[in-house]
Amino acid sequence: MKVTVVGAGAVGASCAEYIAIKDFASEVVLIDIKEGFAEGKAMDLMQTASLNSFDTKITGTTNDYSKTADSDVAVITSGIPRKPGMTREELISTNAGIVKSVAENLIKHSPNVIIIVVSNPMDTMTYLAHKATGLPKNRIIGMGGALDSARFKYRLAEALGCPQSDVDGMVIGGHSDTGMIPLTRLATRNSVPVTEFLSDDQLTYVREETKVGGATLTKLLGTSAWYAPGAAVSAMVQAIACDTKKMFPCSCLLEGEYGLSDISIGVPAIIGANGIEKIVEIELDDAEKAKLTESADAVKKTNGLL
Ligand code: LAC
Repeated sequence: MKVTVVGAGAVGASCAEYIAIKDFASEVVLIDIKEGFAEGKAMDLMQTASLNSFDTKITGTTNDYSKTADSDVAVITSGIPRKPGMTREELISTNAGIVKSVAENLIKHSPNVIIIVVSNPMDTMTYLAHKATGLPKNRIIGMGGALDSARFKYRLAEALGCPQSDVDGMVIGGHSDTGMIPLTRLATRNSVPVTEFLSDDQLTYVREETKVGGATLTKLLGTSAWYAPGAAVSAMVQAIACDTKKMFPCSCLLEGEYGLSDISIGVPAIIGANGIEKIVEIELDDAEKAKLTESADAVKKTNGLL
């Protein structure tokens, strides 16, 4: 299993680190446009191998896509991150050109690659990668729901005063401050609905804090977060590498599912060796359906800026 991570910034490097620590891939190639940067990050990470007990080989290259040849999975983190006060959508003009050329370069050298898009605005960048490459829809996945769901579980556990391992929950919809739909109705603590434990006010607080999870961190850090995004992508890469068929909400190109077409947006999907193995259509209530329609309208509006 060879994995390419495009962009050796904080998210790309965290992603490479988590993949290495989990030790399921034979090789991770970090690639960046900044001279020597990916090589440096790769060398630094390789010097943790004996300490962290992994055998994954991490290499770095400055923009030489031939080094990424025959990758099984590629993660696109390239582009600029948002600064405090910015929305993800404001990054479109800079990031669209970058993501398009990265996706084209990747498939030139790895015709069978499965691509995971992290760059923002993520749903639109995922849609763009589909349009630019024409790859089958199972082979381009947007990472958003996996991260947003992890942030949802963090907020649920905080409100419940319990460990995160006790909670389960999912966020669907667009990966944006207003588009995310944390499904509190379906969230559970050890199979008991969280609605049994939390008041309406608490549930509203959990939903609202989840939606601005990335913005809260951007304000604190002065730039976009990286540990949870890196961990979320590495979990998706692992599901593909190990063919686990784990279910993640993630940005999938829809062709009628949930009544939506010609859009990539967050819905639950089974992830395995073929990338998106199946889109899971769950029964939503009327309020959730209305929110998904609204979220999809916003993503389509951003797609219109491409
Ligand atoms: C975030 C970025 C990755 O939500 O979109 O942290």
